[in-house]
Amino acid sequence: MRASLQGGSYQRCLPVLLWPALLLLVVTTVAAQQTAPSTPGWLEIETAAVEARPANDEYNREQGRRLYNFRCAGCHGTSGEGNGPAAEYLDPRPRDFLFANFKMRTTEFSELPLDEDLYRTITRGIPGTAMPSWATLEEDERWQLVYWIRYLARDYFDDEDFDPRRVDDDGHRYLVKVPGSPPVIDELLEQGRQAFDKGRCVECHGPRGLGNGTSAGTQFNYLEQRILPRDLSKGWRYKGGSRVEDIWRTLTAGMNGTPMPSFVGALDESDPDNDARLRWALAHYVDSLAVDEATSGGALLTAEFIQADLPSDPADPAWQQAGEIAFRLMGQVIRRPRWEIAAVDQVRVRALYNESTIAFRLEYHDRSMSAADGEQSDVTPEIDQGPTYPGLDVEDFEFNRALYNDAVALQFPAREQQGARRPYFLYGSIDNPVKQWRHIAGPDGQGSMQALEAGGPARQSWINGSGVTGSAVYDDGVWAVVLSRSLEPDRGKGPVFTPGGTTAFSVMAWDGSNGETGLRQSLSPWYSLYLEAPLAVGDYATAGVVGLLVALAELLMLRRAGRERGGTGDADA
Ligand code: HEC
Ligand code: HEC
Repeated sequence: MRASLQGGSYQRCLPVLLWPALLLLVVTTVAAQQTAPSTPGWLEIETAAVEARPANDEYNREQGRRLYNFRCAGCHGTSGEGNGPAAEYLDPRPRDFLFANFKMRTTEFSELPLDEDLYRTITRGIPGTAMPSWATLEEDERWQLVYWIRYLARDYFDDEDFDPRRVDDDGHRYLVKVPGSPPVIDELLEQGRQAFDKGRCVECHGPRGLGNGTSAGTQFNYLEQRILPRDLSKGWRYKGGSRVEDIWRTLTAGMNGTPMPSFVGALDESDPDNDARLRWALAHYVDSLAVDEATSGGALLTAEFIQADLPSDPADPAWQQAGEIAFRLMGQVIRRPRWEIAAVDQVRVRALYNESTIAFRLEYHDRSMSAADGEQSDVTPEIDQGPTYPGLDVEDFEFNRALYNDAVALQFPAREQQGARRPYFLYGSIDNPVKQWRHIAGPDGQGSMQALEAGGPARQSWINGSGVTGSAVYDDGVWAVVLSRSLEPDRGKGPVFTPGGTTAFSVMAWDGSNGETGLRQSLSPWYSLYLEAPLAVGDYATAGVVGLLVALAELLMLRRAGRERGGTGDADA
């Protein structure tokens, strides 16, 4: 709307200037998303940092302005209108500060934040969004930024009627103080579960809290941009922190400018103390839904050997024998069309094998099942066509959100690995190609299992008679897919699965309802799959000896590494 008022000539010369800047932004974004979840809870703030804060005077505001124009304006716009050059490519969009809507606060719903609140968010960043953590800035600099943001929205902040520290006639303050939690007993958790079911949570967040309630997808923020309810199982994506006291604060303060309300007075209208206690019950219940962070590097998936037929149904209890790892996926931002806003950010994988076959079980959350009638997920994507970064403006909405098939894939090196050189993780290259096993959703609910070979993003071809089989189930916001194939290398080539050996693999996914097809997808880096060697009875003794030898060898290597000071860290592609 406001963006469309910009002049045409500006628009035309924009791309040349913009792409390097945007790439940088996206890279920092990706980095921020990787670092943000490990930062402490949102509420945490060092008392020392608060006590040593500089004064909100002209000098510090001016410093804040300079820092802001250098660090923040690219997204938030020089005037704070949320319209920096990168804004239209981000979802959620950078905040428009002029409306003074802040999501994370220790003040009551629809109140302004305290300076400390802005300081917290600037320090921590906002997980799952482009807003990076600015913990690398000096404390003084972060306060100066707070003062500049206040200045940008001075119509509100300088008006005493809006001061959240004001005291009204009844002695009421507009602050949220987080008290200690009542003891966590079964009764409390049960009350929390009931409040979740009976309360309106289910409407938006869905029965299991996966963000797929009946009103999901129909909601908008205060600027009429689409906003989705959080998938509560992903604690690392909570914007206001996922510690139980953070959750209690979110439920108490609500998130201004979004459909996420405050629940003060909602659980027990007549007794404020019990109302607050029930909010703790709810917070503990939500906390129990939030699982650990997905791994984004270094993990080794073990395929267990079993002496039985492999389960072909994702619901088969036999899968319980296999260890599960949640792998982190990111939007594809290497080749155009880049896709920063990929929907599938985590896939859980298990693997089992027997004498002849290997099978994988992949599970991922997706708010809606999408299967375009008869249309295949594009295998030859619009390489070098279309915009480098598809804009997310309303006019482009239709184009971007067109419906495609949901899909998930495992990628392997297509040839036996020569040494440690893995193929390029984005569809390999001519001299080091990859194979992919894909599940593509279909209107029958089941879809099809396909395999393809690729020697780079522009060189993909389906493999006829690939022998990849399996099945898929979509249930209440979760896809569970089994992909399976004979252990025999395909036409004498890879992927090669050797008992006792390792193979590289990576994961890719496409959420059709998020407009994802071709390179508009999410993907993981390479990980390692280890095929646990099947042990004959006599082997157990040998295994012990081998274990000891390996431990000894590792010890020697560690000691040597200790002596060679200043060794290089090993980076993984
Ligand atoms: C790469 C883009 C980007 C940059 C750079 C960036 N931000 Fe943000 N920022 C965002 C986005 C996107 C949001 C909105 C997230 C949301 O609504 O969930 C946001 C939201 C915010 C908020 C709102 C917090 C709340 O409680 O709602 C503040 C404050 C903020 N940013 C401050 C800053 C400051 C200060 C800087 C510079 C030091 C900065 N941002 C740089 C993208 C960015
Ligand atoms: C009207 C829809 C709606 C209802 C009802 C609702 N939520 Fe939300 N909730 C949202 C939306 C939308 C977001 C995401 C806001 C954002 O990303 O800025 C959200 C976010 C959250 C978050 C994540 C906060 C964070 O820090 O990111 C939690 C936790 C949460 N809701 C819990 C609940 C619980 C518990 C209830 C019921 C008591 C509930 N919600 C009811 C729409 C709703």
